[in-house]
Amino acid sequence: MRPHGLEQNQPSERSRSFGQRTRVVGMSNSSSHPLRPADWWQDAVIYQVYPRSFADSNGTGLGDLKGIQGHLGDLKSLGVDAVWLSPFYPSPQNDAGYDVSDYTDVDPSFGVLADAEKLIFSAHELGLRIIVDLVPNHSSSEHRWFQEALASTPGSNARARYIFRDGLGEDGDIPPNNWESVFGGPAWTRITQADGSPGQWYLHLFDSSQPDFDWTNQEVWEHFDGVLRFWLDRGVDGFRVDVAHSLMKEPGLPDLSDAQLADRSPGAAKPFWDQDAVHDVYRHWSGILAEYGEDRILCAEAWVWPLERMARYVRPGEMHQAFNFAYLSAPWQPEALRDVIDESLKAFGDAGAPSTWVLSNHDVVRHTSRLALADQESIVPGGLGPNSPERPDPALATRRGRAATALMLALPGSAYLYQGEELGLPEVIDIPDALREDPTFHRTNGERYGRDGCRVPIPWVKDAPAFGFSPSRETWLPQPEVFGELARDQQEGDPSSTLELYKTLLQLRKEHALGTGQLSWQESADPQALRFQNGNVTVLCNFGNHPVALPDGKIIASSIWPAPSELAPDHTVWIKGH
Ligand code: NOJ
Repeated sequence: MRPHGLEQNQPSERSRSFGQRTRVVGMSNSSSHPLRPADWWQDAVIYQVYPRSFADSNGTGLGDLKGIQGHLGDLKSLGVDAVWLSPFYPSPQNDAGYDVSDYTDVDPSFGVLADAEKLIFSAHELGLRIIVDLVPNHSSSEHRWFQEALASTPGSNARARYIFRDGLGEDGDIPPNNWESVFGGPAWTRITQADGSPGQWYLHLFDSSQPDFDWTNQEVWEHFDGVLRFWLDRGVDGFRVDVAHSLMKEPGLPDLSDAQLADRSPGAAKPFWDQDAVHDVYRHWSGILAEYGEDRILCAEAWVWPLERMARYVRPGEMHQAFNFAYLSAPWQPEALRDVIDESLKAFGDAGAPSTWVLSNHDVVRHTSRLALADQESIVPGGLGPNSPERPDPALATRRGRAATALMLALPGSAYLYQGEELGLPEVIDIPDALREDPTFHRTNGERYGRDGCRVPIPWVKDAPAFGFSPSRETWLPQPEVFGELARDQQEGDPSSTLELYKTLLQLRKEHALGTGQLSWQESADPQALRFQNGNVTVLCNFGNHPVALPDGKIIASSIWPAPSELAPDHTVWIKGH
């Protein structure tokens, strides 16, 4: 199919070299291009790079784009298909880059625009796709538009790009409604006018430095059309859309009920989550992506329950993927996992989309640590710290983390990995309060530790400054000693290592086409174990505390190395045949 619309939207001079790719991949089969055809995302394994913490090329203690460039080969040899980059745009970094002050440039601490262009180009040469983060719900308060809004009067066009309202009460000193910020505290902040007097309030579902856009305003739509085109012109393969379920608010901005106020779980029904009108945005964006061929994708970060509602984001003509947070949130129990797998395959399948499995990202306690806790649910929004009620046992954590990954990577669909999980990195618990940066920690006065523990710079080389993360000793968050043992150079080539386990699983997943396979459950020898078949691979996972007999057949992957002759507790194996 000819990508329509290219005539109206000629690629810029700079992007012409990528323009050829746009034409070739859109028409897929005759391509001599190293990238696979249009439906690559159906079964892709996508690796999340969190630029601050991946690799620092210049010794500032903060990762950067050149650092990522230097390790693209390592991602290729890991065996992933694509890389998702968390935000690297200009930002005051009040929310680690999810507070964007300019959507079409690179923050000087991460590099320059040419570095991003080079990274996209080099990744493509290696056959890796690149997905970038798009943050459409809010900008930084340092964004030019918000600064204009502050300098303008109530009712002005500049204010209308955000959600400004008068306060309640005689002096307007009561917030317009009772909504609370996801990071804690009120979701409204009152501005001070040029003459020093208090003015209107603006809405921020996250930090006060992240004002929400008003998506009923046409100018906001046009701005983001331009942002999409800017990065598509530079060859990106898609966008991970931040809080995709929050752009539209219920008209009238009604107060939350007491029950809604009390429910802090992600995905709880609230008048700012999952409003039907939000889908108009994604139908519109899908049209823009189609102008660039059939292989560009949108992935929704939408904490929406139940799965049927989440699957609405991936209906035909909308997005391609949505992170399966129901799966991520499931406890380490056979019934719970079997149910969520069945529900996911049904809900996404009914929408005509693959499920997108995920266990870890930059917002949740790393799964290696999380799954070893008795209370695996309440820590998702809360985080882990020195005074948390429990601390995971390291050996159990490693065993479960590996077993969980081996289970996930055998499932049909696409999967997301978060940097460092291939090294078996645990959540870092003992970060001193003074060094914590997550606004969640500060806005709740330390009541919630937040997400710093999964964001610590990752280790590459045991005997190098900052374990090879940075040429200096600087790291923006301190690395624990254990990161030395877990550094990539210690694991490379060691068949017992988590890194080699990931490589094996990814290679076998491809060889056996598990991503495009069909799952069928089989009766297992023990109720504490799950057993399923995908193509010619049988997968068994033991959640209990006693060993279970293994069926005959050749073990091709085992989360415990060397593979014992039985299915041990917290152990997953892949067996060839059935
Ligand atoms: C979701 C992102 O993943 C998270 O890191 C961020 O704080 C919020 N959205 C706000 O942008």
